[in-house]
Amino acid sequence: PRPFSCLLNHVLNAARGNSRAAFSLILINGPLGAVPPGQRKDLLRMNKQLRKAVIAGNWKMNKTPSEAKALLEEIKPLVKDAGCDVVVCVPYVDLCTALEATKGTNIGVGAENCHWAESGAFTGEISAVMLKEMGVQYVITGHSERRTYFGDTDVTVQKRTRAGLDAGLTVILCVGEYLEQREQGITAELVAMQTKIALGGVSKEELKRIIIAYEPVWAIGTGKTATSEQANEVCAQIRKVIADLYDQEAADGITIQYGGSMNAKNADELVAQPDVDGGLIGGAALKAPDFAAIVKAASK
Ligand code: 13P
Repeated sequence: PRPFSCLLNHVLNAARGNSRAAFSLILINGPLGAVPPGQRKDLLRMNKQLRKAVIAGNWKMNKTPSEAKALLEEIKPLVKDAGCDVVVCVPYVDLCTALEATKGTNIGVGAENCHWAESGAFTGEISAVMLKEMGVQYVITGHSERRTYFGDTDVTVQKRTRAGLDAGLTVILCVGEYLEQREQGITAELVAMQTKIALGGVSKEELKRIIIAYEPVWAIGTGKTATSEQANEVCAQIRKVIADLYDQEAADGITIQYGGSMNAKNADELVAQPDVDGGLIGGAALKAPDFAAIVKAASK
């Protein structure tokens, strides 16, 4: 059972943003007292409804500007009635095209990385303020491909996250373990550490512009997906880390995505998990019908 103050917070928050959810929450819990253990699942589901699911495509190093335009023209009509937030994170050179193509639509645009300085002698880098001025709304930090191939560390991920927040962007912060680490049984500790370091200095107010993506490295681009139980387990552990770092309200409010070979077939089951609030999609985001099917799964 959750403590009274926590339930009260839910209801107050819900009432601020979503009166229908608030009403059903009260219906489920009756007077705001103890929640019988049997109803905990219902409560988790209600909490999930209070959060916005986000489906974000991470195009990685794919699509030239003309290909980006063609893909977005295909995606737009398919996701226009989405019941979740829809984002495409595209290569820097596609940003102008993507911003133009998605103007007036429900699709947000993000970059795949940003540097921590506002400007300076950093050949080949792009700053968060540059992205912001273009009209970009999101930026990914800490993707495992950046960590693995380009030397990103927990500390540089923290600096990039800080820069993204300071520029006014919403940051999609990626965390996740290698297969060896899962086999060693240290997934929860590792992901907690990545999360804690990246969020160093981030206030509760700023946390509203953080989305966490749990991406087990062994599931990225391998066709090997975490089971929905594995995905949910780690997303729930991350939520607990947020509760410890901030409070239960922050933990209940934060969007935590799963990423790693999510596709049109497995999305339904993954996004239905109580602690999984959407997904960060690689390969399947490059095919409009597949991406749209995932958006549909998260809209239920
Ligand atoms: P895949 O969906 O291709 O496995 O990629 C996941 C990912 O890395 C998203 O950031």
